[in-house]
Amino acid sequence: MKSLLTVVAACVLGSLILAGCAKTTSSEGANASASGPISDADNSGLKPTAAPAVVMGDPKHGAVIFKQNCTTCHGAAGAGGGIGPVLKGEKQRKNYAAAIVWIENPQPPMPKLYPSPLSLSDVQDVAAYVESL
Ligand code: HEC
Repeated sequence: MKSLLTVVAACVLGSLILAGCAKTTSSEGANASASGPISDADNSGLKPTAAPAVVMGDPKHGAVIFKQNCTTCHGAAGAGGGIGPVLKGEKQRKNYAAAIVWIENPQPPMPKLYPSPLSLSDVQDVAAYVESL
């Protein structure tokens, strides 16, 4: 009984928060709705700071960056062939934000290419490309 009440309270809270977000972020479109009601309820405190930080990169430029910096280990178009894992379907393992975090601070043997030679916008672009594979 107690847990049912908690669930109902969470739902009411969640929809209140959602309704508030929908009004303030409706102009941002897909990004705002993509995270869904569960993460809204759980991470409502994080949302205002997280949203503006997620700038979608340009996957076309990302493809160029990828060719120059990543294909030796991950293969052409991330299909594999080097010492790095295949990046096809990477979206299922790491979302866009997690891909950026990884590329900025990877585990060895993947080299750290940020902040040099890759700038933040290069990282965003190549992450957008990787997410499209
Ligand atoms: C020297 C080889 C090397 C280069 C160059 C390299 N990587 Fe990697 N990368 C790796 C290895 C090895 C791993 C797996 C590391 C692990 O899982 O501990 C990896 C893992 C990754 C992952 C995470 C895969 C997963 O399991 O979710 C991503 C995303 C990634 N690389 C993207 C890139 C991008 C983008 C570039 C170019 C900017 C790049 N890598 C350049 C070797 C490399």
